[in-house]
Amino acid sequence: MISLNQEYLKLRGSYLFSEIAKRVSAYQAEHPDSDVIRLGIGDVTQPLAPSIIKALHGAVDEMSKAETFRGYAPDGGYDFLREAIVREDYRKRGCNIDPSEIFISDGAKSDSGSIQEIFARDNVVAVCDPVYPVYVDTNVMAGRAGHYDETAGKWSNILTLPCNSDNGFIPEIPKVKADLIYLCFPNNPTGEAITKSELQKWVDYANMTGAVIIYDGAYEAYITEEDVPHSIYECKDAENCAIELRSFSKNAGFTGLRLGYTVIPRALAREGVAVRDLWARRHGTKYNGAPYIVQRAGEAVYSPEGMKEVREQIDYYMRNASYISNSLKKAGLSVYGGVNSPYIWLRTPNNMSGWNFFDLLLKEANVVGTPGEGFGKCGANCFRLTAFNNYENTVKAVERITKVIM
Ligand code: MLT
Repeated sequence: MISLNQEYLKLRGSYLFSEIAKRVSAYQAEHPDSDVIRLGIGDVTQPLAPSIIKALHGAVDEMSKAETFRGYAPDGGYDFLREAIVREDYRKRGCNIDPSEIFISDGAKSDSGSIQEIFARDNVVAVCDPVYPVYVDTNVMAGRAGHYDETAGKWSNILTLPCNSDNGFIPEIPKVKADLIYLCFPNNPTGEAITKSELQKWVDYANMTGAVIIYDGAYEAYITEEDVPHSIYECKDAENCAIELRSFSKNAGFTGLRLGYTVIPRALAREGVAVRDLWARRHGTKYNGAPYIVQRAGEAVYSPEGMKEVREQIDYYMRNASYISNSLKKAGLSVYGGVNSPYIWLRTPNNMSGWNFFDLLLKEANVVGTPGEGFGKCGANCFRLTAFNNYENTVKAVERITKVIM
């Protein structure tokens, strides 16, 4: 009889956001008239911007004619998109990235889950705690995590880097060996950002030890403060040690459309091999490219009108973020994030567990958030809210939350 991949059997419970969706559906099935407002998963609510829609229509029309029809996309993505990315996301910020170092994909979630495949199983993985669960779960699936210690609240072979209000939610450089380091800034879930000088310390550490940093920059578009880097390649010599992941989901509303990219500079080599070449090999073997029409939509994000329109959407969500953050601070909670990010992280009232607070808000306020425990041990007694709902719902949700906690 066939046997199963034993590493999958080590996974704990279900994926965080699937578990939340299950609990919310169960509640709604029992209370069909409830008006539930979702500030849980970071899913956008505003429609795609007009220039993106126009590009989609244009590309669909192209697919209808033999002369302009496109089949398989090039492995790494179409040049028109890779060049637009390099021009707008990198060269304008002084980062010397070449289009051949960009790999277009169906989003940062799949890339952040798959990137570990090109590294050996015995590498030591380091993650922040709290953390986006995909980094951990995919390393569990790959057999790199060891066993889960319930008492310690962590995996035996994964190095966790605590992030809390004491260290400003910035992890400290580890004193023990770490090979593959996942950093996400502006951070999911805490919403806090890293300064360029703090990030440079990580780059220097990786270059000194030979580690590789997986830098998840999915929330880059939400940065408002000057000294916060938009790309890790703004740091000196980062091209020798860092892989950057980017998404179109949060900056341009592509959560349903699916588009992202990974940057691996040619200079990043280990054991005499360019890491980029391994990812190119993996990408070519396992992936047939993001759809042509979606890549054209991605290109439109970088057009002058597209950039203006998506900026307006980001500002719209950031207005929600400020509203949530200011109101909950006024209500007496300790609140973080929301300045360079669409996520607001808070300490629960009376030190309730995040899951108890989740249940309380769902039942008493009909508001969905995400319990901090779902992101790791250091997320205990914390809670995450997103700014991605519309303004009216956001105001209503905050009013209801305030009533419950006052
Ligand atoms: C989140 O809520 O953490 C994100 O939406 C998850 C994701 O981007 O996959």
